[in-house]
Amino acid sequence: MIDFLLIALLVVLLMGTVFWTYLLVFMFRYKVPLISTSKTVINQALEFAEIKPGQTVFELGCGWAPFLFTAAKAEPNAKYIGVEVLKPILWINRFKAKNQPIEFINQDFFTLDLSQADVIYCYLWDTIMADIYTKKWSTLKPGFRLISYDFPIKKLTPKKTVKLGKSTLYLYVKK
Ligand SMILES: C[S@@+](CC[C@H](N)C(=O)[O-])C[C@H]1O[C@@H](n2cnc3c(N)ncnc32)[C@H](O)[C@@H]1O
Repeated sequence: MIDFLLIALLVVLLMGTVFWTYLLVFMFRYKVPLISTSKTVINQALEFAEIKPGQTVFELGCGWAPFLFTAAKAEPNAKYIGVEVLKPILWINRFKAKNQPIEFINQDFFTLDLSQADVIYCYLWDTIMADIYTKKWSTLKPGFRLISYDFPIKKLTPKKTVKLGKSTLYLYVKK
């Protein structure tokens, strides 16, 4: 019995180590840790987003997809897409999203066509927001709204900002 318990414990520890090593490798590669946006920020981001029926909404680097899950409850008649490089998180997200209009894509979002996006939510990093501006902004449609938590696009003037504690939420609307 003790042998069995020891083996079970070792297997669990090994699986945990593999999982965390996998996450750490991806975090170093993509230079963004997996940290979730808080509920208060998500509620404010939803106000900025003004999602309407039929629109296409992305969360880039979605992690546990807090923005998409909250938005899909508030406006179920839009299309929601989460993009994330960490595969195991998407398995769990897909399970949670059953019967909801949310799709998850396991891909580097820089390689994705975002031209159909009406709204994009990001909680990423300074340099990544700069790259989104250089590599993606020209492909996005006029009127499209980008909401970024904590990291502004320094080359653009936000349409609105809200201070939430020590952090800021930025809204950009493409002309
Ligand atoms: C700070 S977390 C934010 C998670 C979630 N959006 C939230 O607000 O709670 C950033 C996530 O972006 C993912 N990520 C970073 N660069 C990426 C890329 N180029 N393509 C897809 N996912 C990326 C990371 O793996 C990480 O899970």
